[in-house]
Amino acid sequence: YLCVKHRCNLILTSMQHYYLVLRTSNYSPWTNEFDKVELSCLIESISTTNPRIEWKKITNDGPSYVYFGKKISGGLENRAVIREPATLLITNATRSDTAKYRCEVTAADDQKSFDELVIDLVVRVRPVVPKCSVPQSVPFGKSAELSCVEEEGFPKSQYQWFKNREEIPDDPKTSLMFFNSSYTLNAETGTLKFIAVRKEDTGEYYCRAKNDAGYAECPAQQMEVYDINVVGIALGVLVRGFFSSQKQTGNNYKVPAKGDGVDYVRTEDEGDFRHKSSFVI
Ligand SMILES: *[C@@H]1O[C@H](CO)[C@@H](O)[C@H](O)[C@H]1NC(C)=O
Ligand SMILES: *[C@@H]1O[C@H](CO)[C@@H](O)[C@H](O)[C@H]1NC(C)=O
Repeated sequence: YLCVKHRCNLILTSMQHYYLVLRTSNYSPWTNEFDKVELSCLIESISTTNPRIEWKKITNDGPSYVYFGKKISGGLENRAVIREPATLLITNATRSDTAKYRCEVTAADDQKSFDELVIDLVVRVRPVVPKCSVPQSVPFGKSAELSCVEEEGFPKSQYQWFKNREEIPDDPKTSLMFFNSSYTLNAETGTLKFIAVRKEDTGEYYCRAKNDAGYAECPAQQMEVYDINVVGIALGVLVRGFFSSQKQTGNNYKVPAKGDGVDYVRTEDEGDFRHKSSFVI
């Protein structure tokens, strides 16, 4: 055999690239919803000129085609393109794109004719305005619970609470302003719990739900702490006792239409009865 210099070189070159090898620039890319993102699948070495390239999306329901027969299919249709040689470019990611994706390349003429790699894509979703619940009024010394819930955000939202625009620290003892407050704050669940409210806990409260993609806040709501009018209630009991004893002895005293002369108003949150107006005789 005649080994022409040029030909020998060619054989050497193809020997070196006999094995199909894939690599990626990023195994775990992320993007925000409605942005673009690249799922990189690079062919490091190959000798086959026209390899078969496929992408599959792997969810709990199993794998499904994303790119097959040189066409984007399934939910990514019109939202993705292939960038040579095998990179998948999603142009407008949605939350449902969060999944694992497998790049599979078949190179018939290579000795190792198949290689694949799996990419873990996360599409971050901004929190929406959280649903917040703040009791309007709580009797002094009673417990109170403020809640904040946001369920769109991905990764899952974490929570912060603010009082009169001041962030409430995780631990009241770390702040002069909150030092004597009895609350516990759970940043994972969004719950702010007071064991026993003080007058100083009165204020405007709002919550912020946040994650890597952004944050959102609910409007501030007033929480009021009121004193149960101990003297008023004691007098009310006395007056009621007086009228009922008058009735029993057959006297024609007119009992006020409103039984005990006190208006009670049920507050929305605690089921506590609030002393609205003082008694009328
Ligand atoms: C991306 O998709 C959303 C809905 O899925 C659409 O409202 C938005 O206009 C799209 N953005 C672009 C740049 O195509
Ligand atoms: C907390 O309460 C104690 C006892 O009532 C009081 O002496 C102290 O000044 C209070 N601290 C703050 C920061 O309000």
